[in-house]
Amino acid sequence: MIRTIIEPFRIKVVQPLRFTTREEREDLLRRAHYNPFYLHAGDVLIDLLTDSGTSAMSNEQWAGMMRGDESYAGSESFFRFEAEVKDLTGFRHVIPTHQGRAAERILFSLLGGKGMTTIANTHFDTTRANVEQSGARCVDCPSPESRRLTEAAPFKGNLDLDAVEREIANAGERKVEAIIVTVTNNSGGGQPVSLANLRAVRQVCDRHGIPLVLDACRFAENAWFIRDREPGQEGRTLREIAQEMFRLADISTFSAKKDGLVNMGGFLAMNDDALAARARSVLILTEGFPTYGGLAGRDLEAIAVGLREVVRDEYMAYRIASVRYLCHGLKERGAPVIEPPGGHAAYVDAKATLPHIPKEFLAGQALVNALYLAGGVRAVEIGTVMFGAAAQHELVRLAMPRRVYTQSHVDYVLEVFADLLAERDRVPGYRITWEPPYLRHFTAHFEPVR
Ligand code: F0G
Repeated sequence: MIRTIIEPFRIKVVQPLRFTTREEREDLLRRAHYNPFYLHAGDVLIDLLTDSGTSAMSNEQWAGMMRGDESYAGSESFFRFEAEVKDLTGFRHVIPTHQGRAAERILFSLLGGKGMTTIANTHFDTTRANVEQSGARCVDCPSPESRRLTEAAPFKGNLDLDAVEREIANAGERKVEAIIVTVTNNSGGGQPVSLANLRAVRQVCDRHGIPLVLDACRFAENAWFIRDREPGQEGRTLREIAQEMFRLADISTFSAKKDGLVNMGGFLAMNDDALAARARSVLILTEGFPTYGGLAGRDLEAIAVGLREVVRDEYMAYRIASVRYLCHGLKERGAPVIEPPGGHAAYVDAKATLPHIPKEFLAGQALVNALYLAGGVRAVEIGTVMFGAAAQHELVRLAMPRRVYTQSHVDYVLEVFADLLAERDRVPGYRITWEPPYLRHFTAHFEPVR
């Protein structure tokens, strides 16, 4: 008999939820220009906008917060953080940043530039924006199976190595500044990358003299899938697998807001002494002194503890089970979801959910707005609004914050989804009425198209 996997914690601080009526939500969404990023979080009942920075911290992390040493230079908290990150990643240089994109900005401003190319399984939007900001260009080489949304392949986050070789030949190896492996592949459905693929990318990088950058946001969730699905990995601890993943890379950018189990933080880590020295100079200019880098001492403590907690089996078993529960529940109710379930979110195919909405009327945004109206649930569009004409699919992501919602919260989301599906024909499309020059999904305005 399969036993229930329970939340492996007791709750000792609660944040009350505010309930709204459908009429209130119609008004709130109109005033938010039909872009849920503008909603006040207090007007959202279940917030699945992102798993980033939304974790509940443990009692041990809060204890660490009290230990935080707020010295400007040489903070004790930095050395605890640094030791923890070094042990996990093996990198000699650990540079704290306020979040992942700050690490990306520093790194790609140093590596990149006009005429250069980065290759990735899929560049996350901030990664792409930072590479392009430096004047370089991005090429995505996701595995062929990742394009088939409902194919239950084990490692859909893998890079397509033939495509990578073609792109290197195209660009010329000296013009490829980095190969980026994003674990798990967020933009591609939160799907994992296998150790075999990562090792093969290492070989490609060695052959061509190209640095391998690990975008490690969800390294622990990726490690779980490696242990669960990859032959020969079943006997290892999550930490051992994670340690190997990091050691296959030359450089890592990390947003601790995901698998660091904290609300703010990140790092840039590497072995290259000269590059690290240049990175620290930029850090001082834009983030802070190298022993705090845009973070408070207490934040560094919380990350140090979080990096230990995230690779515990009981935690990750619960984490993966709760995302699987959401995905299976959606599927049972008739929602077309990406399969197999990834590590941090359910991805719903909005085009298949709302087939009456043509591409130009933004089925993903339509589904996001319909979910909020139906039950105060906030999700995010990952499709034409986010990626423009380059969008491969119209997806909606329901991301699970870590240690925040219980199974009955998820049951409620499933009920809301079922209600929405029952009236899906009446969901309108949307058009953009205003947009900024880049990263438009955060701030664009929309109107419904009746
Ligand atoms: N890389 C990946 C794969 C990410 O998912 C994110 C953030 C970042 C880099 C940037 O990190 O937010 O700390 O600057 N993803 C969040 C999300 C925003 O909702 O998926 P950050």
